[in-house]
Amino acid sequence: MVADLVERFVTTAPRPALGLATGGTMEPVFAELVRRHREHGLSFARVRAYLLDEYLGLDREDPCAYRNAIRRLLARHVDLGAGAVHGPDTHAADLDAECDRYERELRAAPIGLQLLGIGSNGHIAFNEPGSPLDSTTRVVALRGQTRAENARFFPAAQAVPTRAITQGIATIGAANQLVMVACGEHKADSVARALEGPVTSEVPASAIQLHPNVTVVLDRSAAASRAR
Ligand code: F6R
Repeated sequence: MVADLVERFVTTAPRPALGLATGGTMEPVFAELVRRHREHGLSFARVRAYLLDEYLGLDREDPCAYRNAIRRLLARHVDLGAGAVHGPDTHAADLDAECDRYERELRAAPIGLQLLGIGSNGHIAFNEPGSPLDSTTRVVALRGQTRAENARFFPAAQAVPTRAITQGIATIGAANQLVMVACGEHKADSVARALEGPVTSEVPASAIQLHPNVTVVLDRSAAASRAR
């Protein structure tokens, strides 16, 4: 279903600007897009892709950097043009200025379809609980729970960075269409709070309720809770 939405978008939008999330949820989505490219010629040649977030403090070549994960799982297997994957420069001397630059780039793009996962604490991108609903691209500290959950992608738990650059909640809300995907029991509570609870900065993903064009794709386990 998610690949269908992405395929329709990249084949019909005049200048497709595609927002990419990273993480385990997106891996099968990227694998299916690669399959469609190989077997059916789905082309990404016109696509500009934009990262949702990126860790701070990793070497440029670190395989755990989100830019490199996107290259490994998607970009190198399809016909995304050279330089078509955009993101914040986490090695910039002035990180606040770099966040402002990326925010301006995103607003100028603007994103047509934004893929989103959700953290089990209700985060979207790296907007942790307490992030203002009007936040823009900025440097953030990662919560212990987020670092613990993402440790599975790193050689050791201590290797997970403590900070990241993330698009803000308002930045994400400026995309034309949002597609949020969640799988597994451990996402059920945050999904229920995001979709059925009040819109609150304590559940950053609840901000998607304010967006006029959202698709949420859940497996049965992620859909199993009701907001309390
Ligand atoms: C990553 C991102 C995060 C993840 C979320 C879920 O770019 O934006 O918000 O979508 O942490 O991660 P997974 O899919 O690994 O459960």
